[in-house]
Amino acid sequence: MSKVAIVTGANQGLGFSLVETLCEQLDSSWTVYLTARNEERGNAAINKLQEQGLSPILHLLDVSKEATVHAFANHIKEQHGGIDILISNAAARISPDTPQSEQVAQFINTNNHGTYRIIQEFMPLLQENARFLVVASSFGSLTHLSPSLHAYFDIATNSLENIEAVMDEYVRLMETGKATDLGWPDWINIPSKIGQVASAKIMARMMNHEASEKGILINAVCPGLVDTAASRPWFDDMSSAQSPKQAAQDVVWLATLPVGAESPYGELIQHRKIIPWQ
Ligand SMILES: NC(=O)c1ccc[n+]([C@@H]2O[C@H](COP(=O)([O-])OP(=O)(O)OC[C@H]3O[C@@H](n4cnc5c(N)ncnc54)[C@H](OP(=O)(O)O)[C@@H]3O)[C@@H](O)[C@H]2O)c1
Repeated sequence: MSKVAIVTGANQGLGFSLVETLCEQLDSSWTVYLTARNEERGNAAINKLQEQGLSPILHLLDVSKEATVHAFANHIKEQHGGIDILISNAAARISPDTPQSEQVAQFINTNNHGTYRIIQEFMPLLQENARFLVVASSFGSLTHLSPSLHAYFDIATNSLENIEAVMDEYVRLMETGKATDLGWPDWINIPSKIGQVASAKIMARMMNHEASEKGILINAVCPGLVDTAASRPWFDDMSSAQSPKQAAQDVVWLATLPVGAESPYGELIQHRKIIPWQ
């Protein structure tokens, strides 16, 4: 059976370049899945890569819908037995021109509950020496959150479901205008990224024993500032931003750490270095 690499949200932006770079670096014993929620955009991305002589496989996957994540996991289990690399990258965009309270529900459903759906469905499918990454951000550290809220993200005691409930409560507080008074950041990207990193760390804690026996590595990763349509509206100066292809290099390095690597494990990594959790 071939080895399998999967990238979610891969028809554009960083995800597209992750698939491109994986196809370039992995040998012919690998099958690389470019997943996308929209068939037309997915096919356009596949065509672009085929023009370069690369051969990823398109699979439709909308991480905001449990049924499609479940169906894809079943497909992978039946066709390949499990996964060797999974990069959970899909993310909804937010606009600076629309109140955050009107965008928060969909944003959290895709970015946080979507990450949870991927973890739940694919955690049992990790093969020996698998690499599992959640693309998050350097904002996903407790240093960006008021100390009064840190207990919500206690990675030593919380379950994945506890983090899901915290994110739902955050949506409720944003939608009812109460979040700021309780000390939550104004920018919904910060609690969302902290929630994603917490989930990756809790998954690593849950898998700790099995992962060390099987050589599995689980981490969150920040690609740094990347010039995509998602980031452009938020930053006045993009002169220091990397192209998606440049940003993909360090993420793919982490996703392809060689057999025998024991670290990093359960960390948030940016440019090959650990970002402290708090
Ligand atoms: N850009 C940066 O500077 C930066 C910095 C730090 C972290 N990150 C993180 O890097 C990741 C990629 O960001 P990006 O800048 O490349 O964003 P992007 O250009 O907006 O790409 C996001 C991808 O996710 C897909 N997506 C959206 N909703 C989805 C869903 N429900 N199911 C499946 N796929 C879905 C999009 O598909 P459609 O084309 O169909 O919308 C698109 O392919 C995100 O996790 C982001 O938070 C980015």
